[in-house]
Amino acid sequence: MRSLVNISMGVAAAGLAALATVSLLTSCGPRGNNPNVEIIQDMMESPAIKAQEYDESSPHHSGMRVPPEHTVPVGFEAYRYATDPEGAAKNLKNPYAGKMDPETLLVGQKYFETNCAVCHGFKGEGGEAAKSVVSGKMALKPPSLLSDKVKGWPDGHVFHVITMGQGVMGPYASHVPQQYRWQVVNYIRFLEKRDGK
Ligand code: HEC
Repeated sequence: MRSLVNISMGVAAAGLAALATVSLLTSCGPRGNNPNVEIIQDMMESPAIKAQEYDESSPHHSGMRVPPEHTVPVGFEAYRYATDPEGAAKNLKNPYAGKMDPETLLVGQKYFETNCAVCHGFKGEGGEAAKSVVSGKMALKPPSLLSDKVKGWPDGHVFHVITMGQGVMGPYASHVPQQYRWQVVNYIRFLEKRDGK
């Protein structure tokens, strides 16, 4: 009887010691570059697949998945005037209309000088006058953005040309993100105003 009690006490003590060790190990947080001790590995190693990796379970064996049909990313706004410049000119309202503060213009200037000046010139004066390396080699010189024609366009029309391109000019929708496109329009308005003085 006595030896039985002894044994059970021994088992209990061993159990307690094991528990203490486990709690000691798991309570130690990561120190510097030393990761935690992994007792149960379960989800420690993420099975995430990188975008360019081969994926056995994907329909096209590509790590990148095609978004489900009829879905759009959060915050995405479809452009409804893709084939309708007149509709864009008439219906798109510039949320920054008339704003010529430095904050607005600096954003516009950044995107204009990065994407447009190479052809239309830093002052928007157009290919021939801009004498840029690119426009010098183009058969159809990029037109001036200071013309009465562009000055007379509603802001939505300029927005449309940036989004969809025009004739031989390609679209710049992916270069000038939607949220900065109106600032580029305002910057062109600023260049036009300065030209008129
Ligand atoms: C690779 C040269 C090139 C770049 C870069 C370029 N454009 Fe153009 N752009 C042109 C050409 C060429 C035309 C005339 C196209 C046509 O009507 O066939 C044009 C036309 C335009 C027009 C219409 C002008 C008119 O009189 O019909 C606007 C507005 C315009 N571009 C704005 C921009 C803006 C803003 C950017 C920058 C986001 C830009 N362009 C970038 C070459 C360029």
